[in-house]
Order: sequence, then structure tokens, then C-alpha cells
Amino acid sequence: MRILFLGDVMGRAGRHAVSERLPGLIARFGFDFIVVNGENASHGRGLTEDHYKALRAAGADAVTLGDHAWDQRDTLSYIERETSLVRPINFPSGAPGRGAMLIAGRGGHQVLVVQAQGQVFMNPVENPFHAVEKAIADSPLGAVADAIIVDFHTEATSEIGAMGQFLDGRVSLVVGTHTHIPTADQRILGSGTGLMSDAGMCGDYDSVIGMEADEPIERFLTGIARSRFIPAEGAATLSGVAIQTDAKTGLCTSIQPVRIGGNMPQALPEFASD
Ligand SMILES: [Fe+2]
Ligand SMILES: [Fe+2]
Repeated sequence: MRILFLGDVMGRAGRHAVSERLPGLIARFGFDFIVVNGENASHGRGLTEDHYKALRAAGADAVTLGDHAWDQRDTLSYIERETSLVRPINFPSGAPGRGAMLIAGRGGHQVLVVQAQGQVFMNPVENPFHAVEKAIADSPLGAVADAIIVDFHTEATSEIGAMGQFLDGRVSLVVGTHTHIPTADQRILGSGTGLMSDAGMCGDYDSVIGMEADEPIERFLTGIARSRFIPAEGAATLSGVAIQTDAKTGLCTSIQPVRIGGNMPQALPEFASD
């Protein structure tokens, strides 16, 4: 399978980049499954139902959230109806929605999408390692799931590296989200799991992690919040990672960065023929 994962969609600029570029990418590279992190798609805070539907219409087979999951109140209700919207699995028990979903891909493949939130420099959540392990035990790779994608939403690359090693050989991809900065460490671990510490954001990088720079600079200079953060609306870079998986094992055989548009270094995947 060919799978594309796009990092945090940031505001209108990010949404437009996804709508404009994702359909062409799917056609060009023949992706079988697409995951998009939508936690910042609505004005940088959460994901309204309309914006969720727009990401799905652009080609996202699954949409993941993060620590901003509940910033838009309507998410609390529509998430219960959706079968392709995944929030962190280790939120407090009783939280609406689900943290792991088995979702059908374009070619009929079954893909388990799991999201967990980290514990380092993040708001308190249940243990992400135990929660993810239980989810993948219920839908093992190569037996129930043709591919397993773990979106680990956290701040520290050390925590993501540990999750990657912990799941090595048991999932197709562990990819970090949340920092909005793409890392250049994509690689295949010893037992066949693809790892990238952060997919980066789909947004305007001429900013401070997607927000206009003036207010963040002001707060660093003075410690005073003078106004709200405003999503930057310049040309966005679509940022993420593409993998290819083995048809039998579901493990990763190729992992490459994807960055298109905006002012970031550009990267397009090259796949060996299946
Ligand atoms: Fe986040
Ligand atoms: Fe984010």
C-alpha cells in the first residue's frame, strides 16, 4: 500500500492547501490511504464539522485530532457520529469519540488508525504506551489490519522515538504531530516500522508555528498576552510523510518526506513500482 500522512492543518491557509493539492497528489502517486491531522484546521483551534467534511472531501480517509480536539464545541457531538475521526486514545475515560478505528482504504484494505497524546510537556493524559499497545493487540498487523498508522501527538522527540522503538515490527508507521515543525529523521526501524518524529504542519511557515509572529514575539518579550493568536494566511506548505508497505506483513518498505508549496524546502516521494 501507499499511504500519505499530512501533519496539522493550520487555519484557512492549511485548509486551502489541502483542498488544492491533495486530490492531485492522490492521482499522481496512487495513494491507497490518506490520514490528515485536523486539530488546528478551524482558525488554529480544533475542527468544526464543516471543516472536517472539507478535509474528507479533499481525500482524507481518516482525520486525527490532538490536544486541541475540543476547542470547537460541536466536535463533542459530531465526533460520535463519525467513523473516520480519531482523537487521542488516552484521553480521560468517558471522552466522546474513539482513539482507534479500523477504516477501509481505497483498495479495500483495512487500516487501523490510532492516535495517542504524549505526556512530556503536555496536559495530563493516561499512559499512551499502554493504550496504544492494547489497541494494536485488538487488530494485529498482517492478521486483521493491512496497515497500522500511529499518530503520536506530543512535544518531545525523545518520547516519539521511544514509541517508535516500542512498536517496532508491530505497526506500519509511527509519526509525530503537534510541534508543527517537520523533522528530517524519517527512517525504517530495525523490525520494519517507519518513523518520523514530526510530520510538520500544513500551513504558512512564514509565522510562528502557523500563527502571525507579532503576538508570539510580544509574549516572549514581555510575558504579556496583548491579543489573540491569529493564524498566518500566506502561502501554505503541505507537509507530511509518505510510506509504502509490504502487502503481506504490512510493514514499511519505504518512507519519504512530502513538502509541497509555500516557502519550505520541497520534497516529493519516489516509489519503486509495486
Ligand atoms: Fe497539538
Ligand atoms: Fe497542532
